[in-house]
Amino acid sequence: MSDLGIAVITGASSGIGASFATRYAQKGYDLLLVARRGDRLAAMAENLRSETGVGVETFVADLGNAGDLTRLETRLAEIPVTALVNNAGVGALGPTSNVQADAQQALLNINVIALTRLSLAAIQRFKAAGRGTLINIASVMALMPSAGGGAYSGSKAYVLNFSRSLGLELAGSGIGVHVVMPGPVRTEFFSSQGLNDAVFPDSSYVSADDLVKAVFAGVDQDEEVITPTLSSPEIWRDYEIARSAFMREVMGGEIAAQYKVG
Ligand SMILES: NC(=O)c1ccc[n+]([C@@H]2O[C@H](COP(=O)([O-])OP(=O)(O)OC[C@H]3O[C@@H](n4cnc5c(N)ncnc54)[C@H](OP(=O)(O)O)[C@@H]3O)[C@@H](O)[C@H]2O)c1
Repeated sequence: MSDLGIAVITGASSGIGASFATRYAQKGYDLLLVARRGDRLAAMAENLRSETGVGVETFVADLGNAGDLTRLETRLAEIPVTALVNNAGVGALGPTSNVQADAQQALLNINVIALTRLSLAAIQRFKAAGRGTLINIASVMALMPSAGGGAYSGSKAYVLNFSRSLGLELAGSGIGVHVVMPGPVRTEFFSSQGLNDAVFPDSSYVSADDLVKAVFAGVDQDEEVITPTLSSPEIWRDYEIARSAFMREVMGGEIAAQYKVG
């Protein structure tokens, strides 16, 4: 068993999650890998064990299924989890008023409910150990209303605010909470939903490995919100300044003049 403890990665069977699994294994963490496709997880586990020597447990679960989620929460309570990457996510993309309600609810179960419950389960473990790292994968769409991805952008806005709020509550506790806002990443995300990568221009995409490498740099720099493709940090600073100004103004206890009509 590694002194570093166990890194739990959801959605580890492809894309960004698979890159996290590789990086954490290279750092010497034991792993618990979660996804529905057990064959892929088993193949990854075998490779990572032989390449890095770490221990790898696979956990086949549909995070949209309440019973599977409870099984995973129970497992987290039994093992020395020191890192959790809530990465599993789906898009249910398409005109929001046309996409089946069940598909949008399934998205909320995975992107919001599972992420919330697993964050809370991991934080219990982190508190007991006095250390831990939570990395929640949002998206740049957290800041963008999206015609064609209403539930997706809404779910990622939740991930952003939920994670930042946890971070505020846990400041100084030794537990790091980080939220990642990727732009387009070349993974199976679009193809698995019957879309092709041409959703965005080719030049907009980064690789999952480059993204994850950047996330670890952000974690090492103690960054709360990690946006790997944002080259001008002042844009985020200005956004935060505007957000504070907005809050100051709306807390003024007065209806704004433009609404005092009629
Ligand atoms: N790719 C992008 O452009 C992009 C941009 C911003 C944010 N993101 C976010 O990055 C995260 C990872 O996506 P990705 O790009 O790496 O896509 P991906 O290659 O499609 O990977 C998604 C992962 O989630 C797992 N997953 C999906 N539904 C699941 C379920 N019901 N239960 C358990 N696991 C499930 C999949 O595994 P199984 O199918 O084996 O279950 C897979 O391992 C997502 O949260 C996504 O929103 C992606």
